[in-house]
Parts: sequence; C-alpha cells; structure tokens
Amino acid sequence: VLGCAALPTVELKIEVVLPEKERGKEELSASGKGSPRAYQGNGTARHFHTEERLSTPHPYPSPQDCVEAAVCHVKDLENGQMREVELGWGKVLLVKDNGEFHALGHKCPHYGAPLVKGVLSRGRVRCPWHGACFNISTGDLEDFPGLDSLHKFQVKIEKEKVYVRASKQALQLQRRTKVMAKCISPSAGYSSSTNVLIVGAGAAGLVCAETLRQEGFSDRIVLCTLDRHLPYDRPKLSKSLDTQPEQLALRPKEFFRAYGIEVLTEAQVQGGNREVVWAPGVGPSLTRPCLSPKTLSCKGKEVENVFTIRTPEDANRVVRLARGRNVVVVGAGFLGMEVAAYLTEKAHSVSVVELEETPFRRFLGERVGRALMKMFENNRVKFYMQTEVSELRGQEGKLKEVVLKSSKVVRADVCVVGIGAVPATGFLRQSGIGLDSRGFIPVNKMMQTNVPGVFAAGDAVTFPLAWRNNRKVNIPHWQMAHAQGRVAAQNMLAQEAEMTTVPYLWTAMFGKSLRYAGYGEGFDDVIIQGDLEELKFVAFYTKGDEVIAVASMNYDPIVSKVAEVLASGRAIRKREVETGDMSWLTGKGS
Ligand SMILES: Cc1cc2nc3c(=O)[nH]c(=O)nc-3n(C[C@H](O)[C@H](O)[C@H](O)COP(=O)(O)OP(=O)(O)OC[C@H]3O[C@@H](n4cnc5c(N)ncnc54)[C@H](O)[C@@H]3O)c2cc1C
Ligand SMILES: *[C@@H]1O[C@H](CO)[C@@H](O)[C@H](O)[C@H]1NC(C)=O
Ligand SMILES: *[C@@H]1O[C@H](CO)[C@@H](O)[C@H](O)[C@H]1NC(C)=O
Ligand code: FES
Repeated sequence: VLGCAALPTVELKIEVVLPEKERGKEELSASGKGSPRAYQGNGTARHFHTEERLSTPHPYPSPQDCVEAAVCHVKDLENGQMREVELGWGKVLLVKDNGEFHALGHKCPHYGAPLVKGVLSRGRVRCPWHGACFNISTGDLEDFPGLDSLHKFQVKIEKEKVYVRASKQALQLQRRTKVMAKCISPSAGYSSSTNVLIVGAGAAGLVCAETLRQEGFSDRIVLCTLDRHLPYDRPKLSKSLDTQPEQLALRPKEFFRAYGIEVLTEAQVQGGNREVVWAPGVGPSLTRPCLSPKTLSCKGKEVENVFTIRTPEDANRVVRLARGRNVVVVGAGFLGMEVAAYLTEKAHSVSVVELEETPFRRFLGERVGRALMKMFENNRVKFYMQTEVSELRGQEGKLKEVVLKSSKVVRADVCVVGIGAVPATGFLRQSGIGLDSRGFIPVNKMMQTNVPGVFAAGDAVTFPLAWRNNRKVNIPHWQMAHAQGRVAAQNMLAQEAEMTTVPYLWTAMFGKSLRYAGYGEGFDDVIIQGDLEELKFVAFYTKGDEVIAVASMNYDPIVSKVAEVLASGRAIRKREVETGDMSWLTGKGS
C-alpha cells in the first residue's frame, strides 16, 4: 500500500516488520526524502536503447530460427475479421483491420483462451474469457487480467498473398514479457535515487512493480507481503483448492531477481511511532493493502476446522480435511459457491448456509441466482436459505455440528466461511493517509491518496468509476487490481494516467464459467436472453433506460463485446437489449 514519503512535506508513519530470520539484512532508516520529480526527467532514457523498445519480437531471431509461409489470399478475410493460421511450428492469429493485416500470438497469455473467438474493436482484440485486451499493431497487453503481451509477427503481401514470418521460439512460447528496465543500485552512481515501497504483493502490487520497470524505472522496488509466497494467482484458490503454491506463482523467482524487484515475504507493514521509511534513499512508494475475510462471531467460533480462504495454505488444508467428510459453506457469494462446487466431488456432503433467499441475488438477480442454485442442487449441494449460523459445536475441540438460527442442526467436519471481507487498513490510521468510515482508502482517478505521491490500488480502495459518472466505488476484482496497479505506477512516474477500465470478472463452477462486465450496483431490472434452464444465457442489468452490467454463461463472447462497447464510451439502452436482436452488438463498437 502505500507510500511515499516523497515530497518534503509528507511524513508517513509506517514500519516494516520483517520475520526474525530477515532482521539485520534490512536497515530501517528514518531519513531519506527523495522526490518523484528528481526521477521524472530521467527514468525512461536511462536504461533503454531505442531499438530494444521497438523490436518485436524480441530478441531478434536469426533467419534459421524463423519460419515463413503464405497463409491466405488477401481477399480471404474481410475487414474486422480474424482467423487462426498454421505456420508449421504453431498457430498465429491473423487479423484484417482497415485493409491491413496483422499477425499475433493466437492464445491469451492469461489462461490460454483462443483469441480468434474474442472481439476485434478499435485496434485491439479483447479476450473472450476474462476481457484482457491486446493492441493489434504491437501485441501489447492494454487491459487486464494477465501480465504478458502477445508476440507480433511480420506480415508481407506479395501477389495478393499474405505471408507471415515468425520465430519458432515465439510460436512455441505464445507469450511475450514486455521489455523492462533492471534495477541499477544507488551505489552505481545515482545519487538522486528514488525508491518505491509497495505494501502488498497481490495483483495490484505486482503489476505496479512490473509497470515501473516497463516504463524504465531503474531504482529500487521493494514489495512487502504477509504471505509466505511470491505473488500468486489468488482467484484459483477457491476454484482449484488443492493446487500447490508453486503452481500458483504468477512469476518465477528468477524473474524477480532478473529485474531487481525485491519481495519481502512474511513482512508486515504496521503503523509505527517511528516515522519510517524504509531503506536508503526512500522515495515514492505505493500503498495497497488487501481485504481480510470476515469471520463468524457466533458461539463456538473457536472450534477447529473452520476456515476462511485467503492463502494456498487455507485452500490446501480445506481439501485435505474435506475428503469424504461433511462440509458446510457459510455464505453463497462467489467464494462460497466456488468452494462448494469444487468440494462436491471430494466431500461426502456439501451444504450451503445463506441469509438471502437465493445465491448471488444481490449481484445477479433472482432469476439467474435461482438457475445457478438448481445447477448446484443437481450436483447434490444442499441449501439452507434465509437463515444463519447460531452455533458451531465441536467434539474434542473439532467441529462436529453447525446449528442454524432455524434450529436445524447440520453435521459438519469442515466449515468454510465466505461472508465477505473488510479492508485491512488499520495500520494506516496514524499515517496521515485518509481512510473512509468503512476503512477503504479513497483515491482519485489517478489512484492517488490524499497524500501527494502516495498511491493506493486494488481491493482496499474506493475510486471514481469514470463511465458511471465518477461514482466512488470499491470493486474487489482481479482485473481491477491489475488495472489500478498500472495506473498507480504510471502516475508515480508523472505520466498522468487515469483509471478507465470497464470492470470485468468471472467465476467458475462445475466446469462452467460465468462472466460479468460493468458495475450493476443498484440495477432495477434484468433482461435475459437465451435459455436460463439450459444455462446458456445472457443477462443485462439495467437502471432506468441504461444497461449498466452484463452477465453470461455459454454465450461467448457477448460479455467481451459489451465491455468493448462500454469502454468505447457508448451507452447501451435498455430497448436495444430487450428485442433479442443482437445486431447492434455485431458492429465494431465504436
Ligand atoms: C479465494 C478468492 C477467489 C477470488 N476469485 C476471483 C475471481 O474469480 N475473479 C475476480 O475477479 N476476483 C477474484 N477474487 C478477488 C481478487 O483475488 C482480488 O480482487 C485481488 O486479489 C485483489 O488484489 P490486491 O492486489 O488488491 O490484493 P490482494 O491480492 O488481496 O493482496 C494483498 C497483499 O497485501 C499484503 N498485505 C496486506 N496488509 C499488509 C501489511 N500490513 N503489511 C504487508 N503486506 C500486507 C498481503 O500479504 C498481500 O500480499 C478472489 C479472491 C479470493 C480471496
Ligand atoms: C539524467 O541522468 C544522467 C545520467 O545518466 C545525467 O547526466 C543527467 O544530467 C540527468 N538529467 C536530469 C534531468 O536529471
Ligand atoms: C496500439 O499501438 C500503437 C503503437 O504504439 C498506438 O499508436 C495505438 O494507439 C495503439 N492502439 C490502441 C487501440 O491502443
Ligand atoms: S484467458 Fe484471456 S483474459 Fe483470461
């Protein structure tokens, strides 16, 4: 989270507490007042050679490492069309836009979606699965999720034929990490070193660090995390609970070493009496803490085998204990329902306890919620709705029964609590960084806190949502955290970036994905097309005359299409989605 102590008037009172083993390695100092300005004029130029920045793919392949083939006739593709073509060593995505051909990697570097099934609009391709966007001229990742970009391959037209030339290695890798600066330590002769401290190594923190390096920042970057692991794929925790931490890593250890991004694991940043600031030089740093899961406060809450899911350890432990046993999930939100779905194959029984009448009701509406509930019931999940847990009963300290307000008693060996989360920002109370009454950190559209030079991003912030009249919102999604981490980094470098991303999220249960884009809070109607019973549908959430969000299952790439239309700044009217005629969507969204 936060950071900065950069401007002379800023004093942040925070303290980094390292685990015993690490003490002594880091020297905490209360000095150091770098300035982001000092860095500004000098960052990008310092470490890049121009060719390096422009070269795609990178590094230059030698001729024998390349393949070239004629892939089609110029007339085979219409403008706005995409096609996968085979080059022998792998496939390429061929795009025709404004009469020009572009050849790119064909697989989304996030989870490998075939981009040919995505949406081409305004010079970029949007992934059909979770909405990542790639520039068709460069292959660069322009919107999230995911960290890597696509390779861009050479195209030439000869005698009306389209030829693509590509390095074999690039074809096989199908992803490209952007060129990044390395860390040049202050001892290497930079006196005005401007260091960045990033509190939190989640998606926002990692993207922030990577963006700083991509933009040429070559001073020290330190990422602190409470976790024992390098940054990992948190959304997988509740969808694939027995994945080992190593398999969840977003970047290998060598990556952090190569680019000089220091990760302090099991390091807690606390409110301190000392005016911290860490390390020699100190400069702008970013702040971004996460959410802490809410826990039950009922009688018996201290019995063993009651879990929230936040880390790989939590998730792994739950599966281990749940095998062949009775599981109760409290809370029918995304996390609870994903866990319930995953455990049906492993556990003896899975029950869900929820205050509302239907799962996901506030988010997806009554009808969609009911359809999803039926899918769970068909998979043997038992629901206890409109009630809550009044007591957890143990035997020899271990959970045995969950007692509900309705006085029903449910057998349970393991309980997973997914009832929401609250910001873990208490440590900022004395820091000078403003918090709102619920503990979120308000930031402006540049992700800056009330303290100039200190930025915050991710689950713990409220920010003005550009395409909903700058309403102040908190959107705790994986994609949002990436986008905000990037904007924060750009603004640390005085690039004046603004947060414009259209929110996009997904959830997966029983092998089916539900995708969602927009911000549906306060919807007053839901318009459903397709077949809800068959779970092949799209639902539009409207407020007054306007579509404010969309959800779909088995209806790709509709959510990505809607996201593109909204991102282009065009409003979608209710009557446009009421007719069932989707032709308005098939245009190019501009
Ligand atoms: C189980 C689960 C499943 C999810 N599934 C999805 C999904 O399918 N789709 C989706 O869009 N979103 C999903 N989310 C939400 C998504 O993971 C979050 O929106 C995202 O992780 C937010 O990123 P972040 O960087 O803000 O914070 P986090 O990823 O929460 O990271 C916070 C970091 O801050 C560190 N930290 C906090 N306080 C301190 C401190 N005082 N000192 C030092 N370090 C500190 C933590 O150790 C951690 O490294 C899921 C979340 C969970 C928990
Ligand atoms: C930028 O850094 C170089 C050293 O690489 C230095 O010579 C130059 O004066 C610096 N420029 C500014 C504006 O600080
Ligand atoms: C794609 O990249 C090119 C070159 O950097 C840039 O000019 C263009 O604006 C980008 N397109 C989009 C849609 O961002
Ligand atoms: S697979 Fe493309 S965004 Fe996730």
